[in-house]
Amino acid sequence: MKEIQTDRVVIVGAGLGALYAALKLAPRPVLMISPEVLGEGASSAWAQGGVAAAMDAKDDPKNHAADTVKAGAGTVDPEVADLVTRHARDYILDLTRMGAPFDRTDDGGYVLSREAAHSFARVVRVKGDQAGAEIMKALIEQVRETPSIQVLEGTMAVDLDVTDGTVTGIAIQDSDTNRSQPIMLRGAAYLLAGGGSGGLYALTTNPPRIRGQVIGMAARAGAMITDAEFVQFHPTAMDVGEDPAPLATEALRGEGAILINKNGERFMQAVHPDAELAPRDVVARAIFSQTQAGLRPMLDTRAALGEDVKTQFPAVAEACARNGIDPAVDPIPVAAAAHYHMGGIATDTHGRASLTGLWVCGEASSTGLHGANRLASNGLLEALVYARICAEGIILEVADTSTAAPQPLDVTFDAGGNAPNPAAVMALRETMTTLVGVVREEAGLKQALRKIDALENTNADSPSFMNMCATATLIAACALLRQESRGAHERSDYPETLAGEGRRSEILLTDALAL
Ligand code: SIN
Repeated sequence: MKEIQTDRVVIVGAGLGALYAALKLAPRPVLMISPEVLGEGASSAWAQGGVAAAMDAKDDPKNHAADTVKAGAGTVDPEVADLVTRHARDYILDLTRMGAPFDRTDDGGYVLSREAAHSFARVVRVKGDQAGAEIMKALIEQVRETPSIQVLEGTMAVDLDVTDGTVTGIAIQDSDTNRSQPIMLRGAAYLLAGGGSGGLYALTTNPPRIRGQVIGMAARAGAMITDAEFVQFHPTAMDVGEDPAPLATEALRGEGAILINKNGERFMQAVHPDAELAPRDVVARAIFSQTQAGLRPMLDTRAALGEDVKTQFPAVAEACARNGIDPAVDPIPVAAAAHYHMGGIATDTHGRASLTGLWVCGEASSTGLHGANRLASNGLLEALVYARICAEGIILEVADTSTAAPQPLDVTFDAGGNAPNPAAVMALRETMTTLVGVVREEAGLKQALRKIDALENTNADSPSFMNMCATATLIAACALLRQESRGAHERSDYPETLAGEGRRSEILLTDALAL
């Protein structure tokens, strides 16, 4: 295999965590592996709600941490909740300095949205529902102007090279064609910030390339994986036949939008005292059961927002218009769709994975913040906090080789290699939605494991597909092993939550494959 030796820190991914870490590492030389043009294809850019932070004078980071712990259904690490929420405000101020155009009040404060299971309005937003895209835009501008950062657009990571438990290289491929001879990059340190796994499901709000490849790649290399079974389903993905499904942000419910079914019944009031603002897992299950019963759940913004929905939530309005829905007149059909992976590559409070020389941040990581049910808008915040922690850790451990303007690396792929077979990918996604979805049970999970194994064997010449299958296996295996219902993990054959604090699951891919 062709090898490239570099003293750059290699960052896999191009979302918020990757960009922020690259900037915090400057002027140390960085190489970013970005499957698409920066700003495209990363889940962060699709985030509508915003960044959770206790900005209101009457709010307190302790409330934010307590809400995070409570939403997580007994499996959040309180130390991590404290670490992430304590300085959330500083990250908002830092992003503001970097050019993120947060919505401001007339007196210069931050406009704060309310989202489910937050005891306070504390979601800092941009242009209503454009937070992810606009924050990314500001950071991308900074990255483009930073000479120490080289971005390899059109590349993806497919394999980690590990010697005696230490990562010594990352193999990359051409992502435009999804195939090429791999090239082994040997860098100064390795940071995985390549997103979660939502796209492993047929019904998802995640961009098409986010299919568990980074988690699977680390797992195949022997990294410990935690909480893999905890996949968050967003209750209000628009059910309009698009893949991925457009999101109708939870902030709409924060503004008073309600959930009704085809009979006009407001069904959440009978399910939870907080009705539409109940924890996300509760609302997702209610939506799922309405769908299963053929009752066609819908998000009704008419009374709460009327025509204002179009100016206050332009991304939602645009997706509605594309699908012939006028939300001022018609309720929006919705379904529960895979949205965020709470589990992932096990990371300690320094952002380090179980393999030496490997750091992880963002959705690919499993820090213990989200537990079994992530609190809305904590995802971007966690990405920022751990991106900084990882950058600081790397700076401490890696020799400073910074030069004012390091020479760009020349990376040219040779033809060859195998791409994932689209039919196999679709079959994998259908399997996950049908058998490892919102509600699971033993026989279905065992069937899913057999199907994933069979699919993997049909396309084992594609490392990218192997990575997807590895993550799918880990999710199904941990879902099978957790014989209870907790947060987003619902077992119809074990409907109770076991007493006491929940355990976090830990698994190696070899153990999952042995089930
Ligand atoms: C939303 O805007 O509803 C999603 C926010 C999140 O997933 O954190």
